[in-house]
Amino acid sequence: MSQQTLVPVLTANWGQEQSWKLGPYQAQGGYEGLRLALKRQPGDIMTEIKDAGLRGRGGAGFPTGMKWSFVPAELSPKYLVVNGDESEPGTCKDIPLLMASPHTLIEGIIIASYAIGVSRAFVYIRGEVLHPIRRVQQAVAEAYEAGYLGADILGSGFSLDITVHAGAGAYICGEETALLNSLEGRRGQPRLRPPFPAVAGLYALPTVINNVESIASVPGIIVRGGDWFAGMGTEKSKGHTIYSLSGHIKNPGQYEAPLSVTFRELFDLAGGMRDGHRLKFFTPGGSSTPILTADQMDVTLDFEGLMAAGSQLGTKAMQIFDETVSVVRTTLRWVEFYQHESCGKCTPCREGTWWLVQLLRRLEAGQGEEGDVDKLLSVVGTVNGQSFCPLASGAAACITSAVTHFRDEFEIGYHTPAWEYLPYEASALFPVKTATRSGEEARHG
Ligand SMILES: Cc1cc2nc3c(=O)[nH]c(=O)nc-3n(C[C@H](O)[C@H](O)[C@H](O)COP(=O)(O)O)c2cc1C
Ligand code: SF4
Repeated sequence: MSQQTLVPVLTANWGQEQSWKLGPYQAQGGYEGLRLALKRQPGDIMTEIKDAGLRGRGGAGFPTGMKWSFVPAELSPKYLVVNGDESEPGTCKDIPLLMASPHTLIEGIIIASYAIGVSRAFVYIRGEVLHPIRRVQQAVAEAYEAGYLGADILGSGFSLDITVHAGAGAYICGEETALLNSLEGRRGQPRLRPPFPAVAGLYALPTVINNVESIASVPGIIVRGGDWFAGMGTEKSKGHTIYSLSGHIKNPGQYEAPLSVTFRELFDLAGGMRDGHRLKFFTPGGSSTPILTADQMDVTLDFEGLMAAGSQLGTKAMQIFDETVSVVRTTLRWVEFYQHESCGKCTPCREGTWWLVQLLRRLEAGQGEEGDVDKLLSVVGTVNGQSFCPLASGAAACITSAVTHFRDEFEIGYHTPAWEYLPYEASALFPVKTATRSGEEARHG
């Protein structure tokens, strides 16, 4: 694969001097899409986005134009909420976008709001990431100053205000209805559906919720056309998207490519594994998506390709691990995350993730009992699909896929600590200050 296979659209200006400022953004043709959009009818814009085949980039892949059309046109006010919570382990594409080019998102928000008939939009950003929050706030202020926001935008008669909201750093607040609760100042827990947000969302009013990347993709479609966008990718997964690669590869980072790219192509482009090591397993779409192994490198990184391979596209976050890594340890770390982030609303998730962690800790420490792997899968069965929202299924997916591919490794946990047969120091990418192994031993008593 050559560099040409990449399609830098959202990432095109990331390397530019002060790319986050209005001047450099405009010099690159920024806000051209908005000018073009305001000359067209809102319904026309919606049709263009539908025809482009843009699907949500937040994980579920719902068609964006169709989502917009579910909001009753005759009702007012209604809201657009942009989901910038990005907390899935391994996922790192929205926050870099907010840092490098917040105006791409703002331009997308204005065009989307015009198409849907919204006059107040919200950007909900994960609370820990102060720097991107400030970047977006600054960019919103610049956009007001330039007449792209506020009353009568560019003399079109269309008005829009944007509120930037910082969350408090809970993974569950990325789930769209928990996000709405949080935005309203309530506890961030998912809501029962129906009613769906398109009918009764923020403040019980019709609301569209979209991922940062979904909305940021809109200006490019308006400038270059839905056909151009639909010409990339596969039949059902169209366009360009940002993949984030991390772990034991030589050049981790964000890679923007058509949705028809294969894992092997991105892997090669990222320089392959660190010297002297080989690929053991990887997540294709963040920790909630079933892991894949080295014999699945030719999988196409689109919604259908990954489904056929037994996984999901998710957030397109590839965490890549070499042969030094204990799959028991990575699985435990992920499940500890889900246990910590469980909002506690429903019993299978709140209690189940706790039990999963206990069993996995035992196996990691080599203190498992014969039959613990089956017990683990049995607890997974009480969590998966039995919980109120998909957070718990994420915990289940990483366990079932890990056991499917590496059952032997889990069974070694009946007699040998994971850190003995796979010393953790060997997988560290950076010098470890404290003795990891004795730290682990201390943790397990
Ligand atoms: C536990 C959980 C966390 C989520 N976190 C995010 C997130 O950080 N960002 C995001 O856009 N979507 C996240 N989602 C998906 C959202 O619920 C929703 O599908 C998405 O924001 C819709 O936008 P899209 O249609 O543009 O993809 C999460 C879902 C779940 C169940
Ligand atoms: S599955 Fe977990 S995160 Fe989702 S509602 Fe239940 S307790 Fe909360």
